[in-house]
Amino acid sequence: MSSELRQRILNVESLPSPPALVAELLDLTSREDVRISEIASLIERDPALSAKLLKLCNSAAFGVRHEISSLDRAMVMLGIRQVKSFALGFLVLNAKEMQESDCFDFSHFWKRASVTAVSARALAKYAAPNLGGEAFACGLMLDIGRILLQHLVPEVYRTILSKQEESRRKLYEVEREVLELDHMEAGRTLLEHWGLPSIICETVGVHHCPQTYEGDAVGQDFLEIVAAAGEIAALFCDAQKSESLDRVLQICSGYFRMAEEQAHEMLKQIGDDARETAWLFELKGADALDYDRIRSDVEKELASATDAGA
Ligand SMILES: [Fe+2]
Repeated sequence: MSSELRQRILNVESLPSPPALVAELLDLTSREDVRISEIASLIERDPALSAKLLKLCNSAAFGVRHEISSLDRAMVMLGIRQVKSFALGFLVLNAKEMQESDCFDFSHFWKRASVTAVSARALAKYAAPNLGGEAFACGLMLDIGRILLQHLVPEVYRTILSKQEESRRKLYEVEREVLELDHMEAGRTLLEHWGLPSIICETVGVHHCPQTYEGDAVGQDFLEIVAAAGEIAALFCDAQKSESLDRVLQICSGYFRMAEEQAHEMLKQIGDDARETAWLFELKGADALDYDRIRSDVEKELASATDAGA
């Protein structure tokens, strides 16, 4: 039964078609002689996307002094590569076809995706500064396989989610047990089918198991950035904050060689930027994305553990 489901999910015929502008944007930006005005007029065909890009440019993360009100100027400021990455991230996750479900908490999903995206962008400064835009986009799309699975097999995915909640095992382990595939493989298959850059497809395909990655050093750095961003998203969005904070601080001091104070500063900035990005997506409950609040939750968790042990 699960092999049958696996076949059905991975069958190209059953995969949703890419959002309208994705293929055109990829095609246009692959041309060396592309002009900024051509990309701007393509993006302008999607008013919601244009508004988001302008909001993003005017957000504190980019520290602009004067309001940017045209896409041409936004592109000069951010550069074609960054605009392409942001636009792809927004377009892919907005694929309407996959958004109809009553068993999936999209608001929570987007909140997590926002934190992953801004965390990946922040960490890229330490390990791969010229891949910040790609890291942001990849962070947004990291768990797109979860949306795909719930779209293709909603009843089975509902069972998977409740099984995972009961057993507290990792989601991808339960997915493999039930479907013989997980959301990493599902996400990679979809993004490859849609023609997204291979560094994004490959990273999505192994994000919970970075040790299985077989690509080059640039891909390895990129994967470490995005996998670490996933851990930071867990810190901001899931329960059991103290364990999660320990893990994040270890990653920051290990792979990214940050002093502890520097890591706390970065995490505080990530909280501020994530609230702003969540506002771009008009998400409710983004106030909880506050690092000071998380640190005080960790202190409470530790104090109650000490009381229980006393
Ligand atoms: Fe995931």
